[in-house]
Amino acid sequence: MPNSISFSCAATLIWCFSSLLLHSYSSSAPYSNETDHLALLAIRSHFHDPIGFTTSLNNSINLGQWTGVTCAHRHQKVTKLDLRKYQSLRGFLSPYVGNLSFLRHINIADNSFHGEIPREIGNLFRLETLMITDNSFSGLMPTNLSRCSNLIAFHANNNKLAGEIPEEIGCLFKLQKLSIRRNLLT
Ligand SMILES: *[C@@H]1O[C@H](CO)[C@@H](O)[C@H](O)[C@H]1NC(C)=O
Ligand SMILES: *[C@@H]1O[C@H](CO)[C@@H](O)[C@H](O)[C@H]1NC(C)=O
Ligand SMILES: *[C@@H]1O[C@H](CO)[C@@H](O)[C@H](O)[C@H]1NC(C)=O
Ligand SMILES: *[C@@H]1O[C@H](CO)[C@@H](O)[C@H](O)[C@H]1NC(C)=O
Repeated sequence: MPNSISFSCAATLIWCFSSLLLHSYSSSAPYSNETDHLALLAIRSHFHDPIGFTTSLNNSINLGQWTGVTCAHRHQKVTKLDLRKYQSLRGFLSPYVGNLSFLRHINIADNSFHGEIPREIGNLFRLETLMITDNSFSGLMPTNLSRCSNLIAFHANNNKLAGEIPEEIGCLFKLQKLSIRRNLLT
């Protein structure tokens, strides 16, 4: 019995130590992807943030430390963009968003984004959730959205999207949730 206790303590210690090492390694690695860096800078420059929530967007350190940005640790590729909680952002969603090639989740709900949903979103074949509820996006739903073959949820209630729902959306076989109420769709 005492042997097995000390064995499990040693195992726990080794585990703690290695996670500590892994953690310090990942948080000190500089960002390695200039494409993602440029895309974030472009995205940031297309909206206005009157209350200053995103002023800590920072171009000199780990991309994962930018406000609202989550990165995959090993490659410093952006996997999640979550600007929902800031709630006062006003402007366009930059087409550069389509360059964040590892992006899985976009949540910019409850802001004042307007203009069209950039077609470049269709380049994000890893995208699983796209949440743009309660904004003022207008124009057509981009046909290119149908290229996001891993899309599971698209929430766009309460925008100004117009015209027909593109047939191609029917090709999104993984799509489970589509909410597009309170738009101008026909
Ligand atoms: C950054 O990402 C782009 C596109 O996703 C890729 O082509 C490029 O090789 C990556 N660069 C590095 C240094 O990881
Ligand atoms: C950028 O990051 C560094 C290091 O964390 C910090 O000292 C600096 O204040 C940040 N700049 C802005 C504009 O937030
Ligand atoms: C990223 O996207 C923009 C606009 O969609 C494009 O002009 C630019 O060349 C792209 N590539 C890189 C590597 O930033
Ligand atoms: C839209 O998708 C088509 C292919 O279906 C592609 O050729 C085109 O480049 C895409 N447009 C953008 C802006 O990504």
